[in-house]
Amino acid sequence: MTVVPAQTTSGLIAAPRAATPGTAFPAGFAWGAATAAYQIEGGVAEGGRTPSIWDVFSHTPGKVVNGDTGDIAVDHFHRFRDDVRMMADLGLTSYRFSLSWPRIQPTGRGPAVERGLDFYRALTDELLSHGITPVATLYHWDLPQHLEDLGGWTVRDTSYRFADYAALAAEALGDRIGTWTTLNEPWCSAFLGYASGVHAPGRTSPADALKAAHHLNLGHGLAVGVLRSALPASAQIAVSLNLHQIRPLTGDASDAEAARRIDAVGNRVFTDPILRGSYPADLLADTAHLVDWDALIRPEDLAEISRPIDLLGINYYTPTVVSSSENAEPAPRSEVHGASEHSPWPGADDVVFHLAPGEVTAMGWPIDATGLTDLLLDVHRAHPGLPMLVTENGAAFDDAVGPDGTVDDADRVAYLHDHIGAVARAIEAGADVRGYYLWSLMDNFEWAYGYEKRFGAVHVDYETLARTPKASARWYSEVIRRGGLA
Ligand code: FCB
Repeated sequence: MTVVPAQTTSGLIAAPRAATPGTAFPAGFAWGAATAAYQIEGGVAEGGRTPSIWDVFSHTPGKVVNGDTGDIAVDHFHRFRDDVRMMADLGLTSYRFSLSWPRIQPTGRGPAVERGLDFYRALTDELLSHGITPVATLYHWDLPQHLEDLGGWTVRDTSYRFADYAALAAEALGDRIGTWTTLNEPWCSAFLGYASGVHAPGRTSPADALKAAHHLNLGHGLAVGVLRSALPASAQIAVSLNLHQIRPLTGDASDAEAARRIDAVGNRVFTDPILRGSYPADLLADTAHLVDWDALIRPEDLAEISRPIDLLGINYYTPTVVSSSENAEPAPRSEVHGASEHSPWPGADDVVFHLAPGEVTAMGWPIDATGLTDLLLDVHRAHPGLPMLVTENGAAFDDAVGPDGTVDDADRVAYLHDHIGAVARAIEAGADVRGYYLWSLMDNFEWAYGYEKRFGAVHVDYETLARTPKASARWYSEVIRRGGLA
């Protein structure tokens, strides 16, 4: 049997070709790992970088477990060459990372800082020299604090600031980065950042969260426009959404109604304007008492927001089980959405969340790979012809470090095996999935959980910052080498 090496060419995610023999995955499928700037870089005061909302939030007592911050993180800013070598040793064909807005454009306006761009030039050169396709995310949650002080995502001007920053990044890096995603998980930015307050900037206003959602959508669309003009015609533009795979608890009509409401404010608030050019009427009705949508949405906005994209990035960890308030006992909110008494679901805050049955990860998130197959097929049916990337999937576990520093994370191997299998099933059923990015390359700053939760395939010793591939990293290398599961 000939095994076709899974390699991408020319800095782009490949269009599907014949399946690698013995697997469902097309040759050229991108096998990657993902990270985000604030979670790994450190170097927060270097090269003119100014604080982002996450610097300020993490330095605010009580916001992050153990008072952890990203000041040093895993020092990727200084160790990126070794980290890229490690990726090459693992056989990754692609790497998804994010650009730090305050490193490139510290106050969120004005010219780019060359020293910030130089870091990403050097990183991408290093990736390309090892044959690893870079996928850059423009915004993985680190808004310059200067812009938050002016209103953050609740004000329209931030969308325009984001587009200007996108233009600076594309002009400087477009010669070496072929695949771009605008936003990572705007649901978290809007609803965890501005409604439940468990993420930066930590605000707790349902109305502000809805305004933020619209301005994130607008920022995305404006950025797609400037990326199209600044980048070569071959460039691929995407957005990464944490679409919720929603399951009503029972067959009751009231649970179906709960699922509809969460789908509106969890999924369609982004997918409808971006992919269909309109906001869902039911979302506007559910939230009409909170925000004046007519004043918020200008007539030209939806045409901007729905500029065509080339790929949809999907981040999946666990299914979302919901019921109406009449049905069953809820799971404690802290297990589902972090420790806040403020709901991240404007217009649907009476919906009750449950944990799907079965084993959970160290985050308390139920493990259910069927949710990933279902999600990819739902998107495939709702938006036929739209190529997808799984831009994040993975699991935190309480890894036990052996005396020699090795980590035998059989639980993570099992999780990854089941979820990569779930992607294979979606492909077999017709979904056009072009890549899989494991979250995360290495242990890192897990937002409000600080360094307590480890998602890495590579272990990081936070005293020495030494990196040691876990058993899951070695297992993933084999998957990549074979081009799929055995
Ligand atoms: C996602 C984030 C990513 C990481 C994983 C566990 O919501 O995009 O940065 O924290 O969850």
